[in-house]
Amino acid sequence: MKIEILPITPEDTWDLRHRVMWPDRPIDYVKLEEDQNGLHFGLKAEGHLVSIISVFIDSGKAQFRKFATDAAQQGKGYGSQLLQFVIRDLLDKGVTSIWCNAREEKTGFYEKFGLKKTNKTFVKGGIDYVIMEKKVEVNDIKV
Ligand SMILES: CC(C)(COP(=O)(O)OP(=O)(O)OC[C@H]1O[C@@H](n2cnc3c(N)ncnc32)[C@H](O)[C@@H]1OP(=O)(O)O)[C@@H](O)C(=O)NCCC(=O)NCCS
Repeated sequence: MKIEILPITPEDTWDLRHRVMWPDRPIDYVKLEEDQNGLHFGLKAEGHLVSIISVFIDSGKAQFRKFATDAAQQGKGYGSQLLQFVIRDLLDKGVTSIWCNAREEKTGFYEKFGLKKTNKTFVKGGIDYVIMEKKVEVNDIKV
């Protein structure tokens, strides 16, 4: 299986965001105003885009959002490979923390990547979220 992880454009993310996260909404719903200021990465398996993630950096803190793997391709490790790559890339860029709004049910997944639950929680659209964060430590920085 040929796997590639590469930077993509905001436009490249919209189809998967739409199909995986909000298939019942119009496509415009998945386009973010901030998209043009974000970094976007995709994982291609055999040339097909199967997993995507977007990152927004503000004052040295990197938030990842809109992480999605094609429903038929989930549970095969693609999302983990993509997230691992993005975390490494952000550490190399010198960010001071990496954080996300995690669905409560997904917190175990993000803990595998060194993110920890904070005490900040909220409910949106009937779903429980918790803010998770990885503070960058000296050991994370390559010399
Ligand atoms: C979250 C999401 C992006 C993860 O992508 P993915 O490609 O399925 O991720 P992985 O395959 O690497 O990991 C998913 C699970 O499969 C497991 N897994 C990974 N490789 C595996 C393999 N080869 N065999 C069996 N299981 C495997 C992982 O350990 C993980 O388990 P966990 O959820 O119990 O921790 C995907 O589930 C998704 O798009 N969900 C819908 C949108 C969403 O919820 N986004 C995130 C909002 S917080």
